[in-house]
Amino acid sequence: MHRPAVLLSAQGVVTSFTTPEGRELRVLDGVDLDLHEGEIVALLGRSGSGKSTLLRTLIGLLRPSQGEVRYHGRPVTGPEPGMAMVFQSFALFPWLTVQQNVELGLEAQGVPAQERRRRALAAIDLIGLDGFESAFPKELSGGMRQRVGFARALVTDPDVLCMDEPFSALDVLTAENLRSELLELWAERRIPTRAILIVTHNIEEAVLMADRILVLSADPGRFRAELRVGLPQPRDRQEPAFRELVERIYAVMTTPQPPAAPDTASDRTSLGFRLPKAPIAQLSGLIEEVASRPGAREDLPVLAGGMRLEIDDLFPLTDAAELLGLARVSHGDIVLLPPGLGFAEAETQVRKQLFAQYLLAHVPLIAHIRQVLDTRPSRRAPEERFLRELEDFMPEEDAGQVLETAIDWGRYAELFAYDYNSGVLSLDPPEDLD
Ligand SMILES: Nc1ncnc2c1ncn2[C@@H]1O[C@H](COP(=O)(O)OP(=O)(O)OP(=O)(O)O)[C@@H](O)[C@H]1O
Ligand SMILES: [Mg+2]
Repeated sequence: MHRPAVLLSAQGVVTSFTTPEGRELRVLDGVDLDLHEGEIVALLGRSGSGKSTLLRTLIGLLRPSQGEVRYHGRPVTGPEPGMAMVFQSFALFPWLTVQQNVELGLEAQGVPAQERRRRALAAIDLIGLDGFESAFPKELSGGMRQRVGFARALVTDPDVLCMDEPFSALDVLTAENLRSELLELWAERRIPTRAILIVTHNIEEAVLMADRILVLSADPGRFRAELRVGLPQPRDRQEPAFRELVERIYAVMTTPQPPAAPDTASDRTSLGFRLPKAPIAQLSGLIEEVASRPGAREDLPVLAGGMRLEIDDLFPLTDAAELLGLARVSHGDIVLLPPGLGFAEAETQVRKQLFAQYLLAHVPLIAHIRQVLDTRPSRRAPEERFLRELEDFMPEEDAGQVLETAIDWGRYAELFAYDYNSGVLSLDPPEDLD
């Protein structure tokens, strides 16, 4: 049988970042991947699992610390003209017109002006932006802007097209349109692209588009599953085979992983300082929702549908529920544990007390904040104090999000107060702050 050629491959790719404190943050830990001619591969993974890092490593924007990436068998050492990328944020230059933004990709390759112009117009036409050549990005809707993003990638005639959550900043309908148009261009071979690699956190999107789905696990990042999608295009979300595959992927993504070997355990996991982005209002909404189901148990896809949540919004909530011992998530189901049931049934004030107990028992960071405040004579501390501590272990942005969650939870449980204006945490009620 004819074996399709491998266009892009990764072998044993390890990509690490150095934290401001000089620690190694290993994001990808030995990733192997082959992208074959003729296939669409989707990379699924939860927020922070390293999807964008992998994509950036594959197209030569990041150098792996170990392992190798090869494009047509040649080592990738920098951006390759045959690979193009579409970004979630569109990444357009606001001071350039549509036409100029599209030409940019070609300018980098040294294509003469005349030819640039011709090819840009063709790409603009292909992607349905005809008539908008001289518009500026700010004059366009989100969907139109992402069309520019696609035109800029396609104008270079890439044989490998990489996309990092290209539809996730768009509203549902716009995303659907653009997605099917791209699939049509691909199926009708109106683009020279021979393989597509799409990063997404949306399971249905992966099943709609891909021939093969790879699930990236987090901490540290490597593949935990590969699924083939044998369904004919165009695909119907309502079809039983489609639903079944979506279920299977949910199950894979929610089945506990064996703990990493001690020598690969990163600082992030061992410190227990990482908190999912799960505001208390949404977290208690989730607990109540599950409590209302028979047996306090529900299938996650059904729950996500019922709560109108995307997977990226649901997982931090279920992670938080697990972290606090409120629920157990396994094989695509969530079931409340006695503490979760107790929380769901309690009155507001009792809820707060229960929540305080769970926090102190399961969240070292919150116990730590409380202890620092308890031992200070002023019984207060600026949030920067804790931020700096967290930044020793994670990037600044993550530290901010983690502390935000800790503050949200701690305030709700009345373990401490927080003054938004001064950024001060304290054991006094907020009105005492002068
Ligand atoms: N330049 C960097 N310096 C330090 N840490 C980084 C850097 N880029 C990413 N990270 C960290 O690496 C991890 C993986 O990030 P990455 O953006 O690849 O994840 P992702 O799967 O794309 O997440 P999302 O779904 O949120 O886009 C995160 O913990 C992130 O904070
Ligand atoms: Mg990303």
